Amino acid sequence: MKFWDREKEKKWLKHYLLTEPNAILFVYGPKSSGKTALLMKVVEELPKETFAYYWYDLREKFIVGYENVVELFFKEKGWLRSFLSSIKPKINLKVFELESGAIEDIRKKKLDPFEEMRKHLEEDRARGQIPVIVFDELQKLKDVYLNGGNQRPLVGELFNFFVRLTKVLHLSHVIVMTSDTFFIEKVYFDSTLENTSRYYLVDYFDDETAIDILISEGLSHNDAKKIVEIAGGVPWILRESVKDEDPVKLLDELYKQTRSKMIELMGSDEKYSEILRDLLNGKDLYGVKDAAVRELVEKEVLFMDPVNGEIRFHTRLHERAAKELLGVE
Ligand SMILES: Nc1ncnc2c1ncn2[C@@H]1O[C@H](COP(=O)(O)OP(=O)(O)OP(=O)(O)O)[C@@H](O)[C@H]1O
Ligand SMILES: [Mg+2]
Repeated sequence: MKFWDREKEKKWLKHYLLTEPNAILFVYGPKSSGKTALLMKVVEELPKETFAYYWYDLREKFIVGYENVVELFFKEKGWLRSFLSSIKPKINLKVFELESGAIEDIRKKKLDPFEEMRKHLEEDRARGQIPVIVFDELQKLKDVYLNGGNQRPLVGELFNFFVRLTKVLHLSHVIVMTSDTFFIEKVYFDSTLENTSRYYLVDYFDDETAIDILISEGLSHNDAKKIVEIAGGVPWILRESVKDEDPVKLLDELYKQTRSKMIELMGSDEKYSEILRDLLNGKDLYGVKDAAVRELVEKEVLFMDPVNGEIRFHTRLHERAAKELLGVE
């Protein structure tokens, strides 16, 4: 599969990984903006032997409490090793391997899991490798955080550990990826991450780049322009468009889907329409953290940038649908 562009982002991330760990890095951006694909590409292009990656794809994981977190981080010695190298042969993927007794002791809280992880990371360092812990889909920890009852402090503890690894010990990089930026905010304030974290936005392609990409994939200039006008530079949509026999028709269908989702939503609560109208009329929603705005962000109709607090439509499809449905020019 061909990887498009992202030269600027790749350069930034490579440079970041080659400098001393000193902060947790939050890589954020709207859903399907290409965060995971970008980081994978960066990892592939960096020299394999320089880094040791601990990559946690939380998307497929069911995490509600301490037990699951222990399961996520630790594997019994020897387990999965060959499997890991067969799925991502170009990447030096690692897991925290321990004797089964040690894992049991961690479960029973007789052994400190963070201490065991730190020891592993120091061994990587002693071998001359820079460890990189990647948390893809941070929002999966939300369940632990919000519904886990007495498990709530766990996420805070985890982030305090990440602060220690980066800012205090400069031992390992920690990269956290998510599209749920309200959750970033929550973690930020609750774990007092001030002066301990960096933020990097991976946004959609700009229009010009998106049109160039589509043309380079064989679409006519006209079709490329039309598609980008309707949907903007969402990588996932660009991918689907170049695969499709009739990309303009596909876009029309995608738009209709978005539109019906918005009709349903706006019909369910008057407040949603009010907020969308305000946004279309150029009202700055900055600082409007009321429940309905948050819901629209969670439902992926809006996107909030946690760095500058800017709130915008999730994609151009959403903006277009809102304009049409509310009769705003
Ligand atoms: N630079 C790129 N070149 C080609 N395809 C890309 C590029 N970036 C993303 N894609 C494709 O777009 C889709 C979405 O990308 P990806 O899963 O990386 O987004 P994401 O931001 O991680 O999404 P999520 O928020 O759901 O985690 C994937 O099919 C991916 O292959
Ligand atoms: Mg992703």
